[in-house]
Amino acid sequence: MAATDDPQALDAAVGQAAGVLKAGGVVALPTETVYGLAANALDASAVARIFAAKERPAFDPLIVHVRSLEHVAEVAEIPAEFADVIGKIAAAHWPGPLTILLPKKPNVPDITTSGLPTVAVRVPADPVFRRVLKECRFPLAAPSANRFGRISPTSASAVMKELSGRIPLVLDGGACSEGLESTIIRLVPQDKRPRIEILRPGPVTKEMLQVFGQVKILKGGPTPEAPGRLPSHYAPKTPFRLVESLDDWEPEPGRRYALLSYSGDPTAGYTGLTDWAHIISLSPGNGKLHEASIRLFHVMRQLDELGVDEIISEPVSEVGLGVAIMDRLRKASGPRD
Ligand code: TXA
Ligand code: MG
Repeated sequence: MAATDDPQALDAAVGQAAGVLKAGGVVALPTETVYGLAANALDASAVARIFAAKERPAFDPLIVHVRSLEHVAEVAEIPAEFADVIGKIAAAHWPGPLTILLPKKPNVPDITTSGLPTVAVRVPADPVFRRVLKECRFPLAAPSANRFGRISPTSASAVMKELSGRIPLVLDGGACSEGLESTIIRLVPQDKRPRIEILRPGPVTKEMLQVFGQVKILKGGPTPEAPGRLPSHYAPKTPFRLVESLDDWEPEPGRRYALLSYSGDPTAGYTGLTDWAHIISLSPGNGKLHEASIRLFHVMRQLDELGVDEIISEPVSEVGLGVAIMDRLRKASGPRD
């Protein structure tokens, strides 16, 4: 693990990471959303090392990170009919937690996009990631730095728990400032302005995108176009259940439960429902969705280590960032394989 918290340490860590990446290796890097496991997006054998370290199935494509909108041309076409709206969206949200699906260029190997004709592109904001991108001068493919199907890591120590012994280097950039993976969108031609479809809700919300056109959140299970929307993603090892309606749940005697509470307020939510073995709140600062987003994966990891029989989660209100939080809670609560 390499520290980045003073200028000298940062220079050394960036140099070390760029060295590994230029040699075709993988490195775990901080982003503002979650930690990513990076490799040269244009080098098929480097990208294969990401899939191997994560035990990720080959049908689940990666996000490619570039330095700015200008650098998107290295990996993707921007169709003329979308150029205007993409320029506006990029000006508002790049660098930042937003990924756009675009037609891929032939130099992007099939393994990076799982054979799809599109590539998912993002301009990350994290300063450490940006330094590494600049030093490498090639785009970096980076999925979340967890083993496949598990909780995304939002700290360097969480990456170590997931991938220690499988990867040569983790750059420690501190805790992620967003805490949830980027919003993934695609554009669809429509009469006046292209429609914006959200394939994965994230920190850039429907409300924020509505100024650029009509926005639709795609619901439902995995499709050939978005295989990563598998229901069992983000799963803790401990059975995890999102209880959206209290009619759906009654505690079983003798079972030890932990509660993932929204505010932790003893007079609200599910805190009084039963004799909880543990209660951890998402937003102890009293109901702020941003605080809840930042803490969600960290808290899910904490709950997973308590040794209870089952984790029960309260729902959060499905507005703004609450849409992305509920998406992750539903997936964590989905069927197991
Ligand atoms: O915030 C993020 O997006 C983080 C950081 C590291 O940038 N990355 C991330 O990557 O969450 P990952 O691999 O865990 O999730 C990427 C998702 C997957 O669900 C994948 O199926 C989808 O993006 N995806 C990638 N390329 C796609 C494509 N061409 N078409 C449809 N879905 C795509
Ligand atoms: Mg992931």
